Amino acid sequence: MHSPVATETASTTSRPAALTRVAVAGATGYAGQELLRALARHPGVRLTLATSSTAESAARPLPALAKIWTGSLSPLDVDALGRDADIVFLALPDTASAELTPALLQAGARVIDISGAFRLRDAASRKTWYPETDTLPAGTVYGLTEWSRAELPSARMVANPGCYPTTSLLALLPLLKAGLLLEGSDVVIDAKSGVSGAGKAPKEHTHFSEVHGSLSAYGVFNHRHGVEIEQGLGREVTFTPHLVPLNRGILATIYVRVPPGMTEARLGEVYEQAYAQAPFVRLTGAALPEIKHVAHTNFCDIGWRVHSSGRAILVSVLDNLVKGAAGQAVQNMNLMVGLDEQMGLL
Ligand SMILES: NC(=O)c1ccc[n+]([C@@H]2O[C@H](COP(=O)([O-])OP(=O)(O)OC[C@H]3O[C@@H](n4cnc5c(N)ncnc54)[C@H](OP(=O)(O)O)[C@@H]3O)[C@@H](O)[C@H]2O)c1
Repeated sequence: MHSPVATETASTTSRPAALTRVAVAGATGYAGQELLRALARHPGVRLTLATSSTAESAARPLPALAKIWTGSLSPLDVDALGRDADIVFLALPDTASAELTPALLQAGARVIDISGAFRLRDAASRKTWYPETDTLPAGTVYGLTEWSRAELPSARMVANPGCYPTTSLLALLPLLKAGLLLEGSDVVIDAKSGVSGAGKAPKEHTHFSEVHGSLSAYGVFNHRHGVEIEQGLGREVTFTPHLVPLNRGILATIYVRVPPGMTEARLGEVYEQAYAQAPFVRLTGAALPEIKHVAHTNFCDIGWRVHSSGRAILVSVLDNLVKGAAGQAVQNMNLMVGLDEQMGLL
């Protein structure tokens, strides 16, 4: 059982000075609260600051974190974030991340940004999808943990991947790297997300009465996560996200072509090899994974079926707020500071 940790209060001052100091900006949001939940119980860090959206923000309770986190929220203060933390987690809208990050790096903090602001390397794509981000800080690491382990220990700036891209790339990259995705064949990603993926601010299409009892496609040929997936894969994909009446979780059903005669067992060997050292990827094989088994966890579960013609279907699931956001960010932090990758996440 972990002991609850507060911001700079009596309960933290007895901790060893060597603990990494961490702060969360955007702590009142869905992803930010997940960060607080993980970091407050994390034995390797000291949570020094948690901020809400503006310098004038009034204090407010976070009932879900009662008796987990006993600290209090502070108004947004970029100087305090840079001064009081070795690593700053940004769980903010893209525009706010793009604005704050340079100052934080300048102040000497390392930054893990959960927004999309620093994910796209191509300047033209960034201009379309994240126009507020002029340049990427030198050495920005795209923090898909399982595929960026070597770069994380020295990273000063980590762009945490999007939730759909994490779901999709973890399933696709092993096949791509093994040369099993047939050249020129379509990669079709049919993905479904719970409504928390849209954040806490109410919008017409995310109201209960709009979502409950329905299912809809959105962002067809026009979603920034499609571009991010293509960047990670280095080839075109057809990506269609859907909104489903769930609170949290993503399920991606991915249609690919592999060499005819490929077997499920051979695909299994490829996945086993790719993820032999990956504590948060669980391979389910032909027993296809389900959202309910990963909700509130940092696991990504991947299953697959193969037809003798070479048609393969991959199914990948994760919790958008954990492995798709805050959990992966903490996993990245663990590797940045040399801690066990699983610390604070199981
Ligand atoms: N939701 C997901 O599944 C998910 C997954 C991966 C990545 N992300 C990304 O993570 C980021 C946070 O997402 P979320 O779902 O947690 O959003 P959210 O629930 O809407 O929370 C947004 C947070 O940012 C703060 N904020 C809003 N406007 C701000 C501004 N102009 N300046 C500074 N702070 C501001 C809010 O503070 P107040 O409460 O004071 O308004 C709140 O703490 C987004 O960039 C999102 O794209 C989300």
